[in-house]
Amino acid sequence: MKKQLQLLICEDDSSDAAMIIRKLEKANYTVHHQRVETAADMLKALNTHAWDIVISDFHIPGFGGPAALSTLRSTGKDIPFILVSGAIGEETAVNMMRAGAGDYLMKHSLARLNEVVKRELEEAANRKERKAADEQIKANEEKYRAVIDNSLFAIFLARPGGLIMESNKAATELFGYTSEEFLKMGREELLDFTDKILAEKVKERDAKGSSTGEFTGIRKNGERFDCEVSSVIFKDINGEKMTCAMLADISPRKNAEQKLRETNIELKELSHHLKNAREDERKYIAREVHDQLGQLATALKIDVDWLNMKIEATDEMSKKRVAHANTTIDVLISTIRKIASSLRPSVLDDFGLNAAIEWQCTEFQSLSNIETVFTSTFDDKKITLEMKTELFRIVQESLTNVMRHSKASYVEVTIWEEAKNICLSVTDNGKGFDTSSRKKTLGLIGLRERAESLNGKLHIESAVGKGTVVKAVIPKN
Ligand SMILES: Nc1ncnc2c1ncn2[C@@H]1O[C@H](COP(=O)(O)OP(=O)(O)OP(=O)(O)O)[C@@H](O)[C@H]1O
Ligand SMILES: [Mg+2]
Repeated sequence: MKKQLQLLICEDDSSDAAMIIRKLEKANYTVHHQRVETAADMLKALNTHAWDIVISDFHIPGFGGPAALSTLRSTGKDIPFILVSGAIGEETAVNMMRAGAGDYLMKHSLARLNEVVKRELEEAANRKERKAADEQIKANEEKYRAVIDNSLFAIFLARPGGLIMESNKAATELFGYTSEEFLKMGREELLDFTDKILAEKVKERDAKGSSTGEFTGIRKNGERFDCEVSSVIFKDINGEKMTCAMLADISPRKNAEQKLRETNIELKELSHHLKNAREDERKYIAREVHDQLGQLATALKIDVDWLNMKIEATDEMSKKRVAHANTTIDVLISTIRKIASSLRPSVLDDFGLNAAIEWQCTEFQSLSNIETVFTSTFDDKKITLEMKTELFRIVQESLTNVMRHSKASYVEVTIWEEAKNICLSVTDNGKGFDTSSRKKTLGLIGLRERAESLNGKLHIESAVGKGTVVKAVIPKN
């Protein structure tokens, strides 16, 4: 198949040009050519067309081989240039080659023309390919540098032993050393190697190829900071092992985490304190209501009974009023008792947890009409007042939920001991609910908090249509 050849020919003699073209056509080229004989025409041709090769005569009046070559070079284009001449000396030819001509041929002996053109075209193609590859490498290198330099992480390339070979801008900003200073340093100066975990992590990285961890970084000025490190091993272009480590200052995050932990502890303590204060207040009010109001009501009842005896049997009107007052006082006494019990049942303080839950279950059943069964195999004498109160409140809150939400017909409250734990469960046969709902509701949070304040855990098992089990597991000590 014929090969296309775009030939720019600098020649004042058209028959010489025709001879060259014929020779190339014989060598299987389809030649598209333009002949120029001035520098201006050559420049115009070079700027308006893509040429494969330039063949130039040496002697052209007002122009010539050296001018043609320098015109080509002035464009910066890499196009092979072959000099063809009637007669030039060896020295001139060598000078032309030095100036960038690919080869030179004598007009009367063009036997090498095809071979020279072929070679020059191949070399030009190779040069082009190499240039494209070099540009690609350069572009990749620039991309990689941009990533490294703009990274917010400090990046170090080092030998597996720790000798630093390269660092980025963020590394200088983080540690305060210049990139030149890093080159004379090892990782031991940047991280606190008295930390045993760090040495273990280095071993892990060497064995597995990568590792991450949180350590203590040391800046040039001696300041220490929390530092997250990820390090990987790779092989460089020469097959030698290198490590790439990325480091970030995580002190702000660590400080925020610490603050959050402290705030959480404070909040828990505050909640604990408030709960105890509320419980004490309830106990106080319950006692005041029960003792003071209860006594006054009882005194009133005694007086009204005395009046009842003193009233003449014939005074029916007064008898009726006194009987009414008597009934009202009975209601008043039972209301006072109810209010006092609902604030804090005295049975909890007087007879313990089992008795209080028993009482609560009876109250609950009569109020809700839901069959309520209580069983306990737990000896409630061994627990603290706080534990007693929290467990009782868990039962109360769970039963309130059963009444408000479950539509259950049966509920069972059970306390038992299991290993070193006290377990309490409230199980209903109601409609259940989806426990995965992310809605944060205070009742369940409160139940959980009560269990956690006793170092225990609260589990809720429920599914729509399957009833609900609220279970608290509390360590005995
Ligand atoms: N025994 C139960 N049966 C069915 N659904 C329940 C039961 N217990 C809780 N739920 C569901 O879980 C939700 C959250 O209960 P939670 O006690 O946290 O809030 P609440 O009872 O709605 O309001 P409060 O903060 O006054 O207690 C309820 O709204 C209800 O949908
Ligand atoms: Mg509730």
